[in-house]
Amino acid sequence: MEPKYKRVIIKLSGEAMSGSVGHGINTSTVKSICEQIKEVFELGVEIAIVVGGGNFWRGRSGEGMDKSTADYMGMLATVINALGLQDVLEEMGVPVRVQTAIEMKQIAEPYIRRKAIRHLEKRRIVIFASGTGNPFFTTDTTAALRAAEIDAEIILLAKSIDAVYDSDPLINPNAKRYTELTYIEVLNKGLKVMDSTATSLCMDNHIPILVFGLDDPKNILRAIMGEKIGTIIQEV
Ligand code: GTP
Repeated sequence: MEPKYKRVIIKLSGEAMSGSVGHGINTSTVKSICEQIKEVFELGVEIAIVVGGGNFWRGRSGEGMDKSTADYMGMLATVINALGLQDVLEEMGVPVRVQTAIEMKQIAEPYIRRKAIRHLEKRRIVIFASGTGNPFFTTDTTAALRAAEIDAEIILLAKSIDAVYDSDPLINPNAKRYTELTYIEVLNKGLKVMDSTATSLCMDNHIPILVFGLDDPKNILRAIMGEKIGTIIQEV
């Protein structure tokens, strides 16, 4: 079977890195995610990863904290996760380059779009750290932006929930599960799957988003093979 996609962005939330522990990096969780990523990589798919930082820092956690400062702290958290992912993937023999949107040249390469594309062409996984490098932009928006920049065919949005629902299925047992949505529906219904900046960036640039659960890491492979899992957000 051939993979459905040639070049993808995988968005991993910070929480995905911490597994059931809920904070920090859980090595066995990260290993199981990376094994799946490796499997997909070996099918010839070009993979860029955008990682969040919520396992270390959640937005404006401190009361009254300046929003920009809190967001910069979050960006630093994504660098920790990017280095952790790089280490685990390299340990598995997968070539990786980390690029950071905020320069810290002792730690990683700066983000350079053309170099990122070259890395992908040379069969390396590229991990984008530090979000967009700007406060007020989420790592979901980073995934949308980078997908547009590197011409990725789809964003694979790995979540702790298996699909998009109209309300929290853990609270409301009658929550409606969606298999397909348009960008406008996501925006109009106020669905919390992605922030509106990220959703509209994908809409304007015609980038589909597949939302699926990472409780079963095999879902990354299923998503790449084009199996119908989770919720696809795209134009009709
Ligand atoms: P090619 O240009 O295709 O040979 O790619 P390459 O990434 O193998 O070559 P390069 O010499 O650019 O990088 C070698 C190693 O140094 C890689 O692991 C890069 O991620 C890393 N590297 C490159 N530039 C920087 C930088 O500015 N800072 C840090 N910390 N590492 C860098």
